Amino acid sequence: MTIHNHDVIVVGGGGAGLRAAIAAREEGADVAIVTKLHPVRSHTGAAEGGINAALREGDDWEMHAYDTMKGSDYLADAPAVETLCQDSPHETIQLEHWGMPFSREDDGTVSQRPFGGLSFPRTTYAGAETGHHLLHTMYQQVVKRGIEVYDEWYVTELAVTDHENPGDRICHGVVAYDIATGELAGFAAEDGVILATGGPGQVYDHTTNAVANTGDGAAMAYRAGVPLEDMEFIQFHPTTLPSTGVLISEGVRGEGGILYNDDGERFMYERGYANNAGELASRDVVSRAELTEVNEDRGIQDEYVHLDMRHLGEERIVDRLENILHLAEDFEGVDALEEPMPVKPGQHYAMGGIETDENGQTCIDGLYAAGENACVSVHGANRLGGNALPELIVFGARAGRHAAGRSRPDRSTRATRRSPMGAGKRSSGPRRPSRPRWRPNAAGSTG
Ligand code: FUM
Repeated sequence: MTIHNHDVIVVGGGGAGLRAAIAAREEGADVAIVTKLHPVRSHTGAAEGGINAALREGDDWEMHAYDTMKGSDYLADAPAVETLCQDSPHETIQLEHWGMPFSREDDGTVSQRPFGGLSFPRTTYAGAETGHHLLHTMYQQVVKRGIEVYDEWYVTELAVTDHENPGDRICHGVVAYDIATGELAGFAAEDGVILATGGPGQVYDHTTNAVANTGDGAAMAYRAGVPLEDMEFIQFHPTTLPSTGVLISEGVRGEGGILYNDDGERFMYERGYANNAGELASRDVVSRAELTEVNEDRGIQDEYVHLDMRHLGEERIVDRLENILHLAEDFEGVDALEEPMPVKPGQHYAMGGIETDENGQTCIDGLYAAGENACVSVHGANRLGGNALPELIVFGARAGRHAAGRSRPDRSTRATRRSPMGAGKRSSGPRRPSRPRWRPNAAGSTG
């Protein structure tokens, strides 16, 4: 079997994987991305709404952290939430410097809009296709840095030593096959393997997630002995198209879109579900309200409610939400400039995943995770809209830096220094000695 040797292997080419690979490369590591899809086809590309980042006067990371804790039903880990909110502005500005085409105000400043559960309009966006632009922006940086990408290679197993206690195990790489040819190969990682394979949405019948979201990384980590955390917390997004599950961004409600039941009632207020926040209550509240409306016979065709954005006017819709017009037309045959859109709740996001610390480390030496397949526990029981993309870039970068520096005393890792965002950074712990490269024996054992 061919063995490809690298310092860091990143499994998955979505937002977290690309950010991790760039960070590891910047630390001087020889990085490869092994991914079952071409990176720009990753599900991050379906993220519409935006990136929460405290960028403006009147806002600060502590307000962002407060909103995140409250939205999580106080079940998120406060130190990890602080890290997310402190690092997000820097990471967002970094994207801007890499050329991400954020939407802008007339004076040239980057636009931000309200999202559910936020006390300040801090969701930074690029139309209603923020994830698409984020993927393309970071993929350009991957290409620029010469990072090797093995695309359409499907990772089936982690190469982990067989010690009884998972905490004594070491991850040396992965086994994958080339989807086009069936060829099996090993990918040996001198410094670390980072799992960034996304969520498990395909477990559900009605989901916003792509068919590729099959929870591969979490399953592999579990089989290797890593605990999965918070798996009971699954998020249902209130506005998905009934026929397909395709997402209609919270950005529509952020811009002023209104939900109506079959009786024409603005039920979030008129039925008292959320008298303060209305349509911008957090997702669990709005999803439950919609379901109650349907269960109590006020739904449309016993299935859905209406989301109306006509009053926003064509100019604003085309400027900020053009993608929504296409989705409504292509998947439901609805002209959303002329009619309300049918919407219902759908599975959207898994708050739980592979248990990690803030540097993405799992309990297995050399095994990391970042993004939706990981659980550093910044979302608790409910993630706020606009907090997934910052999670990808903040914790992807941290995992990449840490993995790259892990076994190399000659390399300095930024994870052990103060970050550009200042306080709240934690030490990465003692350096481990360099490890021998993985050379499977005839039986394929790595122990
Ligand atoms: O509604 C949305 O645009 C989704 C955003 C998110 O889940 O963060």
